[in-house]
Amino acid sequence: MDEQSEDPIAQARRYLTDIVVFEGAKFIVPAGGQAVEQPPVPVAAEVPQPATVATAAGSEGSAELESFRRQICDCTRCGLGATRNEFVFGAGNPAAGIVFVGEAPGAEEDRRGEPFVGAAGQLLTKIIAAMGLGRGDVYICNILKCRPPNNRDPQPDEIAQCEPYLKRQIEIIQPKVICTLGRFAAQTLLRSGESMGRLRGRAHQYEGIPLVATYHPAALLRNPQWKRPTWEDVKKVRALYDGVAL
Ligand code: URA
Repeated sequence: MDEQSEDPIAQARRYLTDIVVFEGAKFIVPAGGQAVEQPPVPVAAEVPQPATVATAAGSEGSAELESFRRQICDCTRCGLGATRNEFVFGAGNPAAGIVFVGEAPGAEEDRRGEPFVGAAGQLLTKIIAAMGLGRGDVYICNILKCRPPNNRDPQPDEIAQCEPYLKRQIEIIQPKVICTLGRFAAQTLLRSGESMGRLRGRAHQYEGIPLVATYHPAALLRNPQWKRPTWEDVKKVRALYDGVAL
């Protein structure tokens, strides 16, 4: 069968099985074998990009999410309300099947009011592309909506004030699967003190929704050897999104 006539989901799955695209490089993985790095390729040309389908539920969710954003965007519940430049609510498809949850906005996100738009965000975009999706197909947000000064760790009172916002976003979006990025997001949503190494690779749930915990893209930039386990995790995310029982 040629690529033109192949079912887009089957095509995405074939790409998921065989190819990992991170940082502009393509890794061909022979069954059971060692990944072999190929010369860099343009991501968009290599990965099928299923179109986002606007649904009635999607447009209702869109209005509800926007109304919620307007309600909370001037938040001063914690001290970060006084130091932020922009409130970073979240971005993407309000009817997304996948919600990615990071830690908190960094400098670039605080400047632009959008999540994951700095260096780590660029890698996240490539990971999403390697899953056969685009940023507009998924929803991306953080545990905290405002940047902690100097990117310090979020404090318990900040989390306590901000997490209900994320909970409400997830209630509105009703994704099929949540993917937490990094130890902080996983520990917060799973009410756990366990390490990232122990939390990943296991099935979890948040409010009845399957949750896959994986490494933060910023950690992958520092520790490229974690890209392989991350790819295993995001394949699970894609399978849950496709309705495949794990
Ligand atoms: N790191 C995060 O956890 N979130 C962002 O939005 C950017 C960087």
